[in-house]
Amino acid sequence: MKIYAGSDHGGFELKKTLIKRIQELGHQVEDLGTHSAASCDYPDYAHAVAANVIAEPGSLGLLTCGSGIGISIAANRHHGIRAALCHCSLEAELARRHNDANVLVMGGRLVGEALAIDILEKFLVAEFEGGRHAGRVQKIEITQEGH
Ligand code: RB5
Repeated sequence: MKIYAGSDHGGFELKKTLIKRIQELGHQVEDLGTHSAASCDYPDYAHAVAANVIAEPGSLGLLTCGSGIGISIAANRHHGIRAALCHCSLEAELARRHNDANVLVMGGRLVGEALAIDILEKFLVAEFEGGRHAGRVQKIEITQEGH
């Protein structure tokens, strides 16, 4: 599986931990930055990961910032991106099974390392169930404005 990872400074340490785990699990991961703990802007990395996930169907994204909130809001501005901010492994599993989430988001200042790894692992093994969920996921793309 190909995974694109991104974070701002607030999620930098957690991203490093999760990238290591992704590699241990045998997946391919590309770190799109940030590459240091220096202060930076989370939308830059949300947009980079979102663009790559959209360009490569079947790939997944991993995003972290301090709370996970800003970076998930930014990623979800992209059509075709379903970024799920998760605080427990059940959320991660449901995000894949019911919502076909293609980007996992966590807050580096809020989620401990062991829990974050568990969340990541559940996200990676869970699969979209389709069925009644498929039409709902398609409807996500249709806004009230009709585009
Ligand atoms: C950066 O200080 C912080 O605001 C950012 O990482 C994130 O928590 C925003 O949602």
